[in-house]
This record gives sequence, structure tokens and C-alpha cells, in this order.
Amino acid sequence: MRKSNTIVYALLLAAVLLIGRSKASAQSVIPVPLKVEQESGIFHISKTTRLYTNLKGKEKRTLADYLITLPAPFNAGINGKKNARENVIILQKKENAGRRQSAGNIPSSPESYTLEVTPAHILIQADTDAGLFYGLQTLLQLAEPAGEVAWKVQATHVEDAPRFTYRGFMLDVSRHFRSKEFVKKQVDALARYKLNRLHLHLTDGAGWRIEIKKYPRLTDFAAWRPEAVWKKWWFGEDARKYCEQDDPHAQGGFYTQDDIRELVQYAAQRHITIIPEIEMPAHSEEVLAAYPEFSCSGEPYKNADFCVGNERTFTFLEDVLTEVMALFPSEYIHIGGDEAGKAAWKTCPKCQQRIKEEGLKDVNELQSYLIHRVEAFLNAHGRKLLGWDEIMEGGLAPNATVLSWRGEEGGINAVKTGHRAIMAPGSHCYLDGYQDAPYSQPEAIGGYLPLSKVYSYNPVPAALMKDEAGLIYGVQANLWAEYIPTAEQCEYMIYPRLLALAEVAWSDPARKSYPDFRLRALQAVEWLQTQGYHPFDLKNEIGGRPEAAEPVRHLALGKTVKYNAPYNKSYQAQGDKTLTDGIRGDWTYSDGAWQGFISRDRLDVTIDLEAELDIHSVGADFIQVVGPEVFLPAEVIISVSSDGTDFHELTHLTHEVTKAEPITFRNYGWQGIATTARYVRYQARAGKEFGGWIFTDEIIIK
Ligand code: ACM
Repeated sequence: MRKSNTIVYALLLAAVLLIGRSKASAQSVIPVPLKVEQESGIFHISKTTRLYTNLKGKEKRTLADYLITLPAPFNAGINGKKNARENVIILQKKENAGRRQSAGNIPSSPESYTLEVTPAHILIQADTDAGLFYGLQTLLQLAEPAGEVAWKVQATHVEDAPRFTYRGFMLDVSRHFRSKEFVKKQVDALARYKLNRLHLHLTDGAGWRIEIKKYPRLTDFAAWRPEAVWKKWWFGEDARKYCEQDDPHAQGGFYTQDDIRELVQYAAQRHITIIPEIEMPAHSEEVLAAYPEFSCSGEPYKNADFCVGNERTFTFLEDVLTEVMALFPSEYIHIGGDEAGKAAWKTCPKCQQRIKEEGLKDVNELQSYLIHRVEAFLNAHGRKLLGWDEIMEGGLAPNATVLSWRGEEGGINAVKTGHRAIMAPGSHCYLDGYQDAPYSQPEAIGGYLPLSKVYSYNPVPAALMKDEAGLIYGVQANLWAEYIPTAEQCEYMIYPRLLALAEVAWSDPARKSYPDFRLRALQAVEWLQTQGYHPFDLKNEIGGRPEAAEPVRHLALGKTVKYNAPYNKSYQAQGDKTLTDGIRGDWTYSDGAWQGFISRDRLDVTIDLEAELDIHSVGADFIQVVGPEVFLPAEVIISVSSDGTDFHELTHLTHEVTKAEPITFRNYGWQGIATTARYVRYQARAGKEFGGWIFTDEIIIK
């Protein structure tokens, strides 16, 4: 009897501890604050609790409008008296804000705040209304529901400040259009996690998404297509065609100028700046279908790049940017700049004429001619140019800021030449990659970016000097939407990974710990679910590819590999030692463990075991990711030799390459009764029909 009582108590205690874990506390805030001290006592928020602020004018009205959107009793608004000190939440902008005298020793930032929770009152202090807003966000995360219209908050002292000024998220609304309501919902989440920039990728080949009064065809036509799902539209029978808005099959959409004003205001109320991106000179198929006169060919469906030789192109771009600047008060206007093919410019008489007249060297300088000219236009209107790191090719415009996506190199080069940079390298910041084992996930563009990897990112490369590091303006996560047809899937890709980015962007690296963050992220996922979001359910995470967990031992480990055909330089992994280093690849071919061979080159290697050995198996894994044209091999030949000259074939396998499995892994090998050999030759080639790439990580000989 006594014994079973003990067990019951133990179970009860465990249950209390478990429930306790899932509740809000100072340990649950994302991003983790600079300094948190729990104190004794509890503040009870109820219907009788009042809220007071010394904010005035527009700042006060903005706060009041925001409070209305919160749960009760916060939605009662600003209803407290100036001198109240009991049962009150005070948001106090410091009077001496001009001369900074922050409490404690928190770094100087206009967004810093202190939050003091005592059993009698809650006091949030900051130099700016933005700081007060972030203090309020921390309070909202600390508050635990305690019945209807009632919350309780553990007495706590918080001092907090952001690491970076620019804490961004990019949403691609071209590939699949997302509603105004959807964008607002994400703005709410961004605000909760103290992100402050929403970069909208408004234009691209898949559809133009913003009303421009002067060019109605952009939204009567270039915003619509006869197929909703990007993948079917891009690769389908009647691929990449747009249609009229009133076509019965029309899919897509755009934001009217009123919609944009509403979004900008909604975001501003939450201290988020929306940065519009208008792509140029490339990724502009949709514009050039609607207005072919701005392309080199003059015909629709021929070009993706604007004609830079044509003066009317600049009239168009300036007209569009003029309307865009009138809608978005942002410091930055993003002008794209990435992935220009530039091929048509090489033979276009107008482009060649421009190159000659301007004394440009080549088409790269023609691209930078356009960027410089557009920058001068933006600067003349009091705005700054932001662009993808290609804007540096051919010479960076003088005041431009670089958004570094092809790794960190663009950002590093930018700060070394005195420009600001924002880091968003594909390796850590591209949320369109798989967040868990691909077989368990909806089809993604490829790659593998688990929560832990986003979290591990440090936007300040170690190689930078202090003044250069100071030019790293911030960090941004990007969500490209080619493979994301629905709103639910979009949220699934965003959360919880964006929370990891938020902590990268806001928190002091010394305060970061992945195991601790993961516990907080599990709670945040539950909270997001209760609020109607569709996050990836982190508690079901499978994790990395089991093979990649630890090095594999086998007969060829560390042995010399002779390449009878070259591996591709872009995917060389660890070079000549890759295939016998014992390191297995993870869920993505770009992780430095998988080596790539383009179809015309094939994989053909000979491994020297340095002595005649008994062999009973030879095999290699291949990865297939259909999106980026990485396929399983069509043919594999394995042969052995004692002298390196005369080879004896052990097996010759063929396989019909199909696109049926978007992402898969398969081993191709031989097993048999032992054979004796010193040299093992492994050949594999891609299929003829699709070409593309083959990738393997290790040739395992036993
Ligand atoms: C990009 O991902 N093309 C910026």
C-alpha cells in the first residue's frame, strides 16, 4: 500500500513538472533576452488591471490601435492613470531618451527595453516606442493564462537589446500568390518574435503582384496564369504562359495599392517595415510578356532580362519605382539584381550600342550600369538601394546594401569596401529546403535545413575586422515558394525555423544554447498551433540521415582514388579524398559529403587498395532530387583487377531513371563470394533522357 502511494506521488510530481514545462516562464521567451532574473511573487493581470503609457500623439494612437488586437484584458486599451502604481502595466518612454542613460549595462539600441514585473505592477521602460513594443512582446510571452480574462506573470526583471538592427524575413508571393490576410497573420508572428523587416518578393517570372496604375497590363495579365500550381505551370504542356484576369481558368492575384497601404500600416503598427522587391534586370518574364517592348527581342515569351540598351526600359522602371516609393516608406527599395542570364544583351544592337557609348567592358558592366542608374534614381528620392549579391558584379553602386545569398562572400566583399551587408546565405537562411528527413516531408526544392542548422548561424564571419563587422546590418531568412502551393504549407516551412532565425538576429550569442532553444521552440509550436498557424510539428522530428551520423569503416578507407573522369568543380565536396574518407552524406547533396558528376562527365574512378585483398562487397549510395535534376544512375559497372590494367567485371547494373520519386536514396553494388583484387573500378552514368547530375558520397568496399 505505502509503496503504491509512493508511485502515485511520483507520477503526480512528474505530471506537475511536465505541465510546468509547457507553460510560459522566463525560460520560454524567444528570442532569449539579454538578461532575465526571476524574482519572488506573481503579478495577476485581470479585468481590473489598468494600462498606462506616457507615449503621446501618433505613437500613443498606434499603441492603442495595436492593443485592441490583443486578447483581453489588453484589448481594453490605454485606460490607466498617470500616477497609479498598483495593479497597473506602465509603458514608459524615457524622458531623457536623447541622451542615452540605459538602466544597467545593456548595449545602446533604440529598440532596447527593460521589463520589471513585481506583484504590484509591471513597468516597461525604453527610449522609443519600438523598445516599449518589444517589452510588451516579452510580457505577452511571459504571461500564463489563469482563467478567463486573467493571466499571471512571475515577478521577473528583464534587460534586453537586439544584436542586429535589421532582422528580416522574405516571402515570395510571385510563385504562389498569398492573400493580404495571410501576410498580416505572418506579420503578427514576426512581431511576436521581434523581427522587424518583411521583404516581399513582389515580382518574378511566375507573376507580378502589385498594382501599378501606369501599367495596367502588369495586373490585368502578368499576374494571372491558367495553372495554380507553379510546378505544373512551369514544366507543363503549355508551359509558362500567362492569361487574362477574366479568363475562367485564371489563377493568381495581386495587391491593389489600397491593399499595400493597409499592409504597410498594419506592419508599421507592429514596428515592422515592409521592403518591396521589384526584380530587374532578370526574373522579369512576366513583365516582358505584358510589355515586350522592354525586351531585347521585342517579342513576348522570348526574354527574362530587360533590354538595358532601350531608354524606354528606364522610363518604365522609374515609373514603377515612383509608384512603389509612394506606397512603401521603407529606407530600402529592393531591386533584385540576381541571376541575370545576359545572353540576349550580347547580340542586341541597343545593348551593344549602350556598351559602346558608355565605354563599358562587357555585359557584366552593362548590368552594373543599370544598377548604378537605378540607385541614383532611388537616392535622388531619398531611398537606398538593396539588392542580391550579384549587384556587385561589374562594380557595386556607391551607396548600395548587399543581401548576401550565394554564401557569405558577397556580404564580406561588401563590408570590406565600406558597404552595409545583410546576411541570408542559402546554407542557413533558405527556408525552402527540407526541414526534416525528406521522405517524411512534402516535396521541397531540395537541400536540408533543420532547425538546428538555422539556429547555428552566426551572421558575422570570423574573418571580419571590428569596423567591418559593424557593417553587417543584419540577417534574413528567405522563403521561395516554387514548391509551396498552399498557405498551410507556407506556414509549415516558416515555423518554427523562423524562430531560430529570430534568435540569431536578436540574441547575444553568449545567451544561445540549442538544447534550451529547442525546448522553447517546442512550446512555441504548441502556441502557434493554438493560434491557427500550421507549423512543422517539431516533436516528431526524425533528424539527420542515419548513415551520416558517424564515419563508416571499410577496406577502401583513406585509399587513393584515381578519377578517370573529373568530378564537377561546383560539387567537389572534399576533392579527391571524398569517396574514401568514411564520411557519409546527409539529406542534401550540397553538404560537402556528396560529390557531383554532370552527365557528360560520368563517374569513373579506380581505387587502389594497396594490396591484394579478399573482397565480398562493393557499393555506393546515390541521391535523387528531381527538382534540381539530380538523378539516380542509369547504369553502374563494377570491376576489379590485380594489376590495374586487366579488369574483370563483377556486375553491370541498369536502372530506368524516372521522376516518380522526387527525392530518394539507393545503393548500387555487388555482393558475392569473396574475390581477390587490389584495384576496384566503379563506373556510373546518368540516364540519357533527363541528363542532369549524379551524386555519391562514398564507395564502400568490404
Ligand atoms: C535568389 O535566391 N535568387 C536570390
